[in-house]
Amino acid sequence: MSAEITPDAVSVITAKRDGRALDDAQIDWAIRAFTDGEMAPEQMSALAMAVLLRGMDRREIARWTAAMVATGDRLDFSGLRRAGRPLRTVDKHSTGGVGDKITLPLTPLVASYGVAVPQLSGRGLGLTGGTLDKLESIPGWRAEVTTADMTAQLQEVGAVICAAGAGLAPADKKLYALRDVTGTVESIPLLASSIMSKKIAEGTGALVLDVKVGSGAFLADPEDARELARTMVALGADAGVDTVALVTDMSTPLGHTAGNAVEVAEALEVLSGGGPPDVVHLTLVLAREMLAAVGIDDDPADHLAGGQAMDTWRAMIAAQGGDPDAALPTAAHTDTVTAATDGIVTGLDAQAVGLAAWRLGAGRARPGDAVQSEAGVVWHVRPGDRVRRGQALMTMHTRTPERFAAARAALETAVILGDTAPAARELVRERITVGS
Ligand code: URA
Repeated sequence: MSAEITPDAVSVITAKRDGRALDDAQIDWAIRAFTDGEMAPEQMSALAMAVLLRGMDRREIARWTAAMVATGDRLDFSGLRRAGRPLRTVDKHSTGGVGDKITLPLTPLVASYGVAVPQLSGRGLGLTGGTLDKLESIPGWRAEVTTADMTAQLQEVGAVICAAGAGLAPADKKLYALRDVTGTVESIPLLASSIMSKKIAEGTGALVLDVKVGSGAFLADPEDARELARTMVALGADAGVDTVALVTDMSTPLGHTAGNAVEVAEALEVLSGGGPPDVVHLTLVLAREMLAAVGIDDDPADHLAGGQAMDTWRAMIAAQGGDPDAALPTAAHTDTVTAATDGIVTGLDAQAVGLAAWRLGAGRARPGDAVQSEAGVVWHVRPGDRVRRGQALMTMHTRTPERFAAARAALETAVILGDTAPAARELVRERITVGS
């Protein structure tokens, strides 16, 4: 009879450092020990870096994800009923991009078809904004909701966008904070397991993933984005969550706004039947995927034009203490960036716009920092537009005008001018399902 050997931090780190696959016991131990404080943060940092450099195979990623789910609670919405029938649940997750306000119109839009959409969201860290930061610009709106209130809101309204409670995959919260300061966010196994552990713990029946690729996303290389999408779709399938992923362009920011209140205002335009064509297009593409995942093949454009999505938005905001009729905050200070020459806009760099919005106060440098609701960037041109020297290209919004110089420095290279119009942008680059 062979005695079981309990893994220890150094043997797990060196195994991965030397390119060996970790066994189930090593993975379970590392995640549990790190969550409980038995494995030191510097040891988990070394392991995360070894994973980034050496990778993990499909079995290791699935086990790592399951181990993270097992550190916390699992939500269960299987008891939701409407008119005596089970209420189906579907969720969407975006890997994050500049100007990505799609969750705001999408959640009430899909819920307006009688589907429950439990949308656990995060706050922004770094250049990509956080959905909760955007919604907190609505007077009175609360991101923190108990599980009981979340369940009741799903039952009544169908839509909830709220903060993930501390009990959901606590290993991920701890690990994400460490990855953020050790240059290990971009590891595909760590990205995939982080995102999917929360979605599996959340207990949604179906999931649509929006994997962003381009300068304003975590991943700039299309092959890496495809690999992340495939990995997450496989993890969803293994956990019994019907998962599909779209790989979408994030080289150009979405819509005309990046920030907090300015993005809510743009989402309201979409819910009112208008809004920028790319935001409307992506909202509808994702809504069709979400509705198809629960067996509904209606055209979601009808509920934007007909006002049902707006009605659900109003009910969703009010249920979390927000006043859907209150004016959104506006910046005390604005300044414009103008064109240095005549030309045609050939590119609008998402990363530069995200950096400027962050420098204006829309984002945070450290977890827990306050953000400015009114801060952000509004751009008045899109690729393909012809501009004249001196024309206003962008407007910067902030409460603290001393931030303008740093934001302007980022925006100076954001609008690329040339002589010929660029090729039309393909917003949705690829659709990935199990086995594709
Ligand atoms: N969002 C997550 O939830 N996890 C990551 O690792 C990156 C983005």
